[in-house]
Amino acid sequence: MRVVSGIQPTGNLHLGNYLGAIRNWVRMQDELDADGSAQIADGGSADKNECLFFLADLHAISQPHEPAALHAGTLEMTAALVACGIDPERSILFNQAQIPAHAELQWLLSGTARMGWLNRMTQWKDKAGKNREGQSVALFTYPVLQAADVLLYQATHVPVGEDQKQHLELARDIAQKFNNDFATEEEPVFTLPEPIIPPEAARIMSLRNGEAKMSKSDPSEMSRINLIDDADTVMKKVKKAKTDAEPLPSEAKGLEGRAEALNLVTIFGALTGKSVDGVLSEYGGQGFGSFKPALGEVLVETLSPINARFIELKEDREALDAILARGAAKARERGLPTLDAAYKALGLVRG
Ligand code: TYM
Repeated sequence: MRVVSGIQPTGNLHLGNYLGAIRNWVRMQDELDADGSAQIADGGSADKNECLFFLADLHAISQPHEPAALHAGTLEMTAALVACGIDPERSILFNQAQIPAHAELQWLLSGTARMGWLNRMTQWKDKAGKNREGQSVALFTYPVLQAADVLLYQATHVPVGEDQKQHLELARDIAQKFNNDFATEEEPVFTLPEPIIPPEAARIMSLRNGEAKMSKSDPSEMSRINLIDDADTVMKKVKKAKTDAEPLPSEAKGLEGRAEALNLVTIFGALTGKSVDGVLSEYGGQGFGSFKPALGEVLVETLSPINARFIELKEDREALDAILARGAAKARERGLPTLDAAYKALGLVRG
């Protein structure tokens, strides 16, 4: 098993990232290391079960950005991931920009990816809106870089939220076409990656609008819970979360057409390991006046240890740089054989 996934180091890590993806990264890391043997030794074997997690800093330049904020954000997001439980001794944690092979492989895959495939990407359509002509080329070709990110390491499993599913289907299409066009069935160049999406938290929605996903780019801070929010802020955001006037129903089907209520119950369930029906069997019939404080408490209980570790880690810039440098050295080793195979398959001569 090769588990690979990434996150853009822009803005704060929020509850959607955590429940949709990062919590699964940690679980997969821990499951792969059930016997405690997954120490990433320098010069260690590249073929055993491994997790590679990265800061997608190259992706972040596809939209207007502030260089100093990207640099600081990359280190802070590293601290946030470690605070959430990613252990750099057991997982390979790095940032893309230290590994030129990501950008190189993206170019090699650009000969295989089709314009029509990229034109269908909903994230491209959403982000570009009506102003396609004014967007960066990088925003359009972004999914090809994402394909390179996972194909470079022969990823078998990619834990992500639902909004990344289409990008991973594209990565599979690119891998399949490349293998068909330039390799043999017996010796494919790329492995087809499987997205791993948590059913209970595939899509966490904004606290202000149950139809929009919780997102770093939402201008309203009240729309999201950041993993580094303190207890008072979390309680305040939950209290102000948009709801309706009805009490909670006793079964999930009573939440149809009540997107905001469904979102809060989903978050409660994801945090406590209960299904939506399980939560409603406890809180059905009650109003938000009693449900919201209960949700706030569960959130604070989950987030405060993460918060405390984050505050401790984020000041130690040297330690964070060292984590990324070590991770990058390991990732470079892991990616090299695939990059070489891709060049060779395409007939490109290198010294
Ligand atoms: P990004 O940085 O937007 O989000 C990181 C992860 O968090 C998940 N996520 C959510 N899950 C549930 N509900 C939400 N509201 C929510 N918001 C975000 C995302 O699905 C993602 O798993 N393009 C990617 C980064 C990337 C990547 C990759 C991921 C680059 N290369 C290769 C996987 C494999 C992105 O912008 O994620």
